[in-house]
Amino acid sequence: MTQIAISVNGESHSAEVEPRQLLVYYLREQLGLIGTVVGCDTSSCGACTVLVDGESVKSCTVLAVQADGHEVTTIEGIGTNGDFHPVQQAFHEQHGLQCGFCTPGMVMATISLLAENPSPSEQQIRHALEGNLCRCTGYQNIVKAVQSAAAA
Ligand code: FES
Ligand code: FES
Repeated sequence: MTQIAISVNGESHSAEVEPRQLLVYYLREQLGLIGTVVGCDTSSCGACTVLVDGESVKSCTVLAVQADGHEVTTIEGIGTNGDFHPVQQAFHEQHGLQCGFCTPGMVMATISLLAENPSPSEQQIRHALEGNLCRCTGYQNIVKAVQSAAAA
């Protein structure tokens, strides 16, 4: 077991984890942050996207020990029910979700994109989100939501 100390959504957490423990399972199973979901477990779908030091990463491709000493932000850390983050608000208003399974990852990837590029073109949005799959194929409204969040 390896001792780690990670800041998650602004709170410090110390834990003993197995070296092979993936970050996504540390978040879900040890911290109970089940808003970060597992769609594929093979780094294809982006449903598990979180921010590490502000950069979007697929948390099924990162070991918990690699996040040691870093700041992780999950969907639970950006807004609350009734007080949405502007990106969540835009997804809500533009109907950027259907079943919602991909949504946490889409929102976190969008936050990362807009931090780097506050007014992306449609092509840049589609390129930035190409690692995030939506099985409901709601891409048109997802792009509209990102454009709306950028304009907010
Ligand atoms: S669960 Fe991580 S990319 Fe699909
Ligand atoms: S809204 Fe269903 S997977 Fe995207």
